[in-house]
Order: sequence, then structure tokens, then C-alpha cells
Amino acid sequence: MPDYQTHDFDVVVIGAGGAGLRAAVEAKERGLRTALVCKSLLGKAHTVMAEGGAAAAMGNVWPEDNWQVHFRDTMRGGKLLNNWRMAQVHAQEAPDRIYELERWGALFDRTDDGRILQRDFGGHRYARLAHVGDRTGLELIRTLQQRAVSLDVEVFMECKVLRLLKDAEGRVSGALGYWRATGDYVTFNAKAVILATGSVGKAWLYTSNSWESTGDGHAMALWAGADLIDMEFIQFHPTGMVWPLSVRGVLVTEGVRGDGGVLRNSEGRRFMFDYIPAMFAAETADTEEEADRWYDDHIDNRRPPELLPRDEVARSINTEVKAGRGGPHGGVYLDIASRRTADYIRRRLPSMYHQFMELAGVDITVEPMEVGPTCHYIMGGVRVDADTEATTVPGLFAAGEVAAGLHGANRLGGNSLSDLLVFGRRAGMAASDFAEGRTGTPSPLVSEVERAIAEAEAPFDRQDGDNPYQVHQDLQRTMQELVGIIRTESELVQALDELDKLDERARRVSVPGGRAYNPGWNLATDLPAMLTVSRLAAKGALERRESRGGQTRDDYPKADAELGKVNFVQRLGAGGAFTITPAPIAAMPAELQKLLEEEPS
Ligand code: FUM
Repeated sequence: MPDYQTHDFDVVVIGAGGAGLRAAVEAKERGLRTALVCKSLLGKAHTVMAEGGAAAAMGNVWPEDNWQVHFRDTMRGGKLLNNWRMAQVHAQEAPDRIYELERWGALFDRTDDGRILQRDFGGHRYARLAHVGDRTGLELIRTLQQRAVSLDVEVFMECKVLRLLKDAEGRVSGALGYWRATGDYVTFNAKAVILATGSVGKAWLYTSNSWESTGDGHAMALWAGADLIDMEFIQFHPTGMVWPLSVRGVLVTEGVRGDGGVLRNSEGRRFMFDYIPAMFAAETADTEEEADRWYDDHIDNRRPPELLPRDEVARSINTEVKAGRGGPHGGVYLDIASRRTADYIRRRLPSMYHQFMELAGVDITVEPMEVGPTCHYIMGGVRVDADTEATTVPGLFAAGEVAAGLHGANRLGGNSLSDLLVFGRRAGMAASDFAEGRTGTPSPLVSEVERAIAEAEAPFDRQDGDNPYQVHQDLQRTMQELVGIIRTESELVQALDELDKLDERARRVSVPGGRAYNPGWNLATDLPAMLTVSRLAAKGALERRESRGGQTRDDYPKADAELGKVNFVQRLGAGGAFTITPAPIAAMPAELQKLLEEEPS
């Protein structure tokens, strides 16, 4: 077996997006020996793709806004499948996290009287997103990175983590990885590990996610024995680029619609108005009270229909294109040019202006953009305690996109940046408490290290096996075509069958050369995680026989009241098979329940 280095820490954070950085800052400020391990270079994370802003009820633009309204919007956006305690904590703490970021140097856009400016986004009743033009995620990362570096958090870059390691008592006690450049293995022994690994989008063909988003954290948690919930809920952001093909899926921020952009079909019609009655029919249950609530939530003269929650807008675009009213490249038109001045567009949306100019030769100040849904986010993930972000495995914590609960069946745009600040901090606090309370030196089982290294080495020992790139491409096609925006039982069964075959092929991939500078091998080590999260998503989608948020079943077009009371829990059963079981959602306290029932102010 190859040699490996070992590092010892109190807290190891895996992933250096916003949640990982915020967690590492917290643990380090508490005086713990803290490591931040990331697959890419520091500063490159999917967090930058939350461009339009961070949602926090600061009330700078609409004094009527407060945490109660934010809580209600988040719960309604998530179709009430959210962990209500997470939604409460998030809404209450988000403003403090934004002001903290400001103190640490983030340069937010300003109101005329000098406060942090807030913009409109889908599903938020009031303009609520603190933003930095259309580069908010980037500013958030830049600020947190500066803070982490100034605190001397130890950063290990370009290090891919393969497995979590446990000790003889079953506590997570570290992680095994390898340096992407050299292929040399490394273990990090730790008293507590925080997963902040982000998304799974690279299992789909058209995605806003970059190469890092291969579901590593979701899969490693599952393999370590943790519960995952609601993996069927995948968010297709309504507006990704569709052309040129080489950039298909790249995000077009919701900020375009938040700042006045509208959606039109090939006939020039603002088609979103046509979908309000259809959504009404699909979403409401049978009582008049629920019908009233739906109208309050959706029919609001101040908010255009383009700012309905993302699941609803993405489905409407999909229907327009299928009905033959799409553009030449299979999208619809996002038009801000006819609604705002060129100056305004360039000032508010500088990245979008450059992105379309450079990548597509389109000047968005004079022409519309052709856009279509792109796989952006997973609402499901590792089940955590709402207050501490502790998973169901001792020593393991999770925050940000890899964790589940806050967003329920559908995330509101802008809630991810505040999610990772609020829960990154809380994970850092709880992991520090856990590490401080843990006695002795963490001692991961050497047999676990040996097994994981043997698995990673296997592609070099095989001759004439499948090519990892081919397996990946076939996986992406399968997920795009069979586990996409609209799902049916027969397609989901077919997807699971295809995933069995892809699993077989992944077990036979062969890779030429050695471990150093070998992207083919790097991809081969990503495949087990991508296949695992794909199976969880397909299995969850099959099991949830209803349409709700990021799960639309053609064969079950309505929400089912009984399924609205459960999360689907998946875990690794005896013998290595996944089990899936419904778990009742905890009853909400009366004072929160009342907030959901109140008329919007
Ligand atoms: O459209 C956007 O700017 C994305 C934001 C988000 O996903 O929160």
C-alpha cells in the first residue's frame, strides 16, 4: 500500500465554499486547531453562483419586512416540507450574519441613505436580498476567505477527500484524501469533521455547477452511516444559458428578473401570466381557505409572475418550449433590454452583461437572452439537528447545501447565501463544543484507510475497462433525460435500471498512467459519489408519488396531503443496499403555525 502523510487537528472542515469558510472561521476563533480542506483552489466554489444576493429581513427597503415574514416565505416556498426550526433560526439570524460580513469588509450595494440595498427575488414578499451587483457570492467568498486567512486557518487546497474515517467506537475521527497534483494520499485526524461540500449538479448534463460538485459529501456521509433526507428535490434554476452549447447551463442570475427582466416566448408573449391558473389548480388542495392562501402568496400586484418561486417558473418554461413556443436553441427569452436603460443594466448586472457579450456575442442592453432551466441546487441532503448541524453519526456535522432541512421541497433564491452563513457558523460552534468535550487522540481505523486506498488504486490494475469520461457522460444523459424537471414512474424505474448498469461499468473503469496529474483518475474517484447521489435522487423521486416543489411527477400531478407530512429518509442498510422510509415531520409550535396562517401585511 502507498505511504501517506497524516495531519492532526481538532476540527477539519471539508469544502471551502461559504459554509465551510464560515465554519472554519468560527472554530478557529474559538482557538481550536482548524483545517480547511478543499478540492479546488481557495476562492473557487459554487457559492459564487449565488449571484443575485443573500436573503435577510433587514427591512432596509421595505420597513414592513421582518423575520416572521421571511420565515413564512421560506416555509411556503418549500411547500411546508421544511424543518421549521431551521427556517426560524435562519430567518432570525440572517440579518446579523450580513452585518457581520459587512464589518469584515464586504462591500454591499447601498440605498440612497447609505444602508445595505436589498433587491427583489422570487418568492420573497419584500425586496430582501443584500447584494453586490450580480457578484454577491463572489464577494461573500472573498470576505470570508480574507477573514479565514487572517486568522491563520490552515488551508489544504487541491486535496480531494475520498472517505470519512471512523474509530473503533464508530465516531467520525478524520478523513482520507489525496493531493490532486501528485496523487499522494493524506489523512486528517480530527475530533470533529464538518462537511461543507456543496452540490451534486455534475450528475446532470446541463448544470450551473462547476466540476467540483460531484456529491462527495452526500455520499461520504451515507457511507459513514448518516441519514440523508429528501434527495428527490432537485432545483432547476429557470434561467441558464442555452447557447452556445459549450456554455449551456451557465447561470443567468434571477437578479435579472428581480431588477425588472421579463420572460417571453417566441411569439413575444409574457407567458408567465398564462400559468397562474394552472399552478393554482395543481398546487391547491380542496378547501377554500387553502385557495385563499395560495392567492395571497402568488397574486400580488407588486410582484410580477416572473418572480414566482423557481420550481414554478422552470416548469412553465419547460411547457412553453415543449409546446413549440421556444427559441431556436430550446430556450425562451429573458428580456431586460426593453424594460431598463443600458446604463442601469450595466451597473446592476455587470457580470451578466459581460457573460453574454463574451460567451454568446449578445448585448443584453439591446437584445433578449435565450435561457432555459439548469440543474442548480439540491434541497435534499444530510439530515442534521436544526440547532447544531450534528448529523446522525457522532463527530460528523454538515452545513450549507450538503445539509438538508431548511429549504423543504424548493429553495427560494437568495436563501442559500444566508443559509451557509447562519448554519456554517452554528456548525463551527457545535463541532468546536464536540471537539472540546472529546477526550483522547482521534484514532481512525487503519483498516478503513487501507480499504479506501485499495478502492482508489483499482482502476490502475485493470486493463481495457470502461473510460471514466464515457461513464460520466452516460450518467449525465440518464439523469437529465429520466430524472429531470418532469418525472414519471416508468422513466424513474428505467433510470434505476440504467444506474445499475452504470454502477457495474464504474466498477470496471480503467485508467492509464499514474496518480500524478491524472484527471482521468480524478474523475474515476468522483464516479462512486455521483452514482450514489443519483441513485438516492431517483429512488426518492420514485417513492414520492406526488408533485411538490422540486419534484414534478407527470403521473401524480397534485400535491398529496399525507406526503406533505413526511420527509423520506435514506440510509445504508445491512448488506450495502439503500433503505428508504418516510419520517413524520415534527409538529410546529402554535406561534409559528400562526405566522403561516396570517395575512401578508
Ligand atoms: O440567480 C441567482 O443569482 C442565484 C441565487 C441563488 O441560487 O440563491
